[in-house]
Amino acid sequence: TFILGIEGTAWNLSAAIVTETEIIAEVTETYKPEKGGIHPREAAQHHAKYAAGVIKKLLAEAKQNGIEPSDLDGIAFSQGPGLGPCLRTVATAARMLGLSLGIPLIGVNHCIAHIEIGIWKTPAKDPVVLYVSGANSQVISYMEGRYRVFGETLDIGLGNALDKFARGAGLPHPGGPKIEAYAKEAKRYIPLPYVIKGMDLSFSGLSTAASEALRKASLEDVCYSYQETAFAMVVEVAERALAHTGKKEVLLAGGVGANTRLREMLNEMCEARGAKFYVPEKRFMGDNGTMIAYTGLLMYKSGNTISLEDSRVNPSFRTDDVKVTWIKEEEM
Ligand code: ATP
Ligand code: FE2
Repeated sequence: TFILGIEGTAWNLSAAIVTETEIIAEVTETYKPEKGGIHPREAAQHHAKYAAGVIKKLLAEAKQNGIEPSDLDGIAFSQGPGLGPCLRTVATAARMLGLSLGIPLIGVNHCIAHIEIGIWKTPAKDPVVLYVSGANSQVISYMEGRYRVFGETLDIGLGNALDKFARGAGLPHPGGPKIEAYAKEAKRYIPLPYVIKGMDLSFSGLSTAASEALRKASLEDVCYSYQETAFAMVVEVAERALAHTGKKEVLLAGGVGANTRLREMLNEMCEARGAKFYVPEKRFMGDNGTMIAYTGLLMYKSGNTISLEDSRVNPSFRTDDVKVTWIKEEEM
């Protein structure tokens, strides 16, 4: 089976062709805002400008590996969640490709794609997933036909919270890696608000408090304290999800997962609980076309394709809205 997938929920336009076992090709074109954060319409214009070129390059690379467009079985695209204008641009490209090749469309949930690529690219089988990226922060696990959200942010995603604090502190975008670097030079911990409500998280108060703390403490100390507090919160929710589900694996997904300190804290928690901790290679953690193509392949093989009428995008597409047709309980 050959599936072409296109990702473009935010700043990254990326397309790939995969089979059950192989990545045939992947081509990516990243939108870099001149300054500040991402502008949805500018990002969409970027995607529109490069969509044809990215697909052309992808098909050329596939051809070098002996794969022709006529070999493709389906076109997968990120249907949501994400920025509306970006999603619509990518969906349009997917529809045109599907129509011209006469093959079905597959509407992929972006968050689930982050999970499935992790399961493909690590030994994890049935993990509790900590998915922490710019816009999203969720603790997810499969149960009875769906990826259930055990806990999530009630306001902004952890990555955006880090970026917001960093911007206020005069650091360039993206702030996450800069905060990580400053945190390594810290001398002491400053208490900051630790906010968990039930199994859910809140980061915006933490960002505000951290910005205020800068008046009295060094940037290094505040960065360190921010990380310790925010990461302890997400690790606590992941740990409670492990206890609740009785599962024995944790999988880390999303851009914030690049953080070494977060990995260290998750690893410690997993060791203490006798659980395995898995992190995919970095190129599979941020947004990429391969994860959409691969999730599309799983969906395609379980008959989960959509008609043109049902290919409308959904900027607030929820992880637990998706009926997981590709997991057979008895195989787990
Ligand atoms: P999604 O659409 O899934 O929300 P995204 O478009 O926000 O994804 P990602 O690549 O998954 O993109 O994540 C980007 C975020 O990851 C940014 O907020 C960035 O600051 C954060 N990040 C990257 N590296 C690190 C790091 N080392 N430590 C902390 N945060 C990091
Ligand atoms: Fe993402």
